[in-house]
Amino acid sequence: MFEVLVCMESNGACKRQLAEEVLERFQTLIQENGLAEQVTAKPSPCLGLCKADGATVQIGTNLYTGVTPANVDYVFREYVLCIFPEAGKTGVG
Ligand code: FES
Repeated sequence: MFEVLVCMESNGACKRQLAEEVLERFQTLIQENGLAEQVTAKPSPCLGLCKADGATVQIGTNLYTGVTPANVDYVFREYVLCIFPEAGKTGVG
């Protein structure tokens, strides 16, 4: 299973409320693009690249900082959908 991990470190630099929205959006996008059998999005402890203006997300083996509800769709499209070229053809987006 390909994993998307969203930092939910309590009291960490990643803003927990933003991170929860980011995680929920990843989960929705996974469903909408028919990837539930191949991709999972889960909360994670600190990923070691703390940044205050959003959440740190690990996609596969790569880390991305500053992920927010405003850019999560872009991040998903660029770094998850591109790995699964057949995805999304019957879903939204
Ligand atoms: S608190 Fe989120 S990466 Fe460290």
